[in-house]
Amino acid sequence: MAEFERVASIGELADGGRLSVVVDDTPVLLVRVGSNVYAIEDACSHDGQPLTDGAVAAGQIACPRHGARFDLASGKAMCMPATEGIRVFEVELRDGGIYSRPASGTVSPALVPVAVEMPIVSGHSCGCSTPASGESGTCSSAPVSEPSKAERSLDEKMLEALRQVIDPELFVNIVDLGLVYSINYDGERAYVDMTLTSPMCPAGPQLVQQAKMALERLREVNEAVIKIVMTPPWSPDRMTDEARDQLGIF
Ligand code: FES
Repeated sequence: MAEFERVASIGELADGGRLSVVVDDTPVLLVRVGSNVYAIEDACSHDGQPLTDGAVAAGQIACPRHGARFDLASGKAMCMPATEGIRVFEVELRDGGIYSRPASGTVSPALVPVAVEMPIVSGHSCGCSTPASGESGTCSSAPVSEPSKAERSLDEKMLEALRQVIDPELFVNIVDLGLVYSINYDGERAYVDMTLTSPMCPAGPQLVQQAKMALERLREVNEAVIKIVMTPPWSPDRMTDEARDQLGIF
């Protein structure tokens, strides 16, 4: 294992501060939170963006470019678009100095998503799960009946349309990414609740616009209303096997 090397004096790193250093020929960012000093590789695993200016909160640092977050202690990727962690380094404080060396098992654990079935609901615009029957009346508490063949076919058409919308960062469609939470149809309009991989995702407005256009191209859809919801927050376990294959996550 590499020896500890002195990289800075403790006085150079105030509480809440950060310092760029080099450890074992690797650019490293020191981050001080209270009495803890963390040392992380200063490069986002998504596209190499330095994390130097990333916001720190709740023990995590955010990539200033696309919003991925990493756990300061373990380097684990906490949200997309990063799917792999970053290296972390051991830190020792002694003799007024900050010493660091690569941690054993230098590559932090990657996210390991688990497949779940995406909920798709065809029903009234109020968001209930009663399948639409073509009328736009109020919802009842009557037992839910199986969707008709025509309704199933429209579900499939709407899903297929939304599969044409590709996340520009990940190059995977929004359905397989698990961004689409529900689709309701009232016989005229489609109502979609969808989310983003991160609240700071810069592609949000573009995805909303493209989803709306994709649905409105269908003969049955006069208007598509796309709503961004952040609850529940998106997580990688919402991705399909196809999305994981595309992203090279196993
Ligand atoms: S470069 Fe960091 S999230 Fe894209």
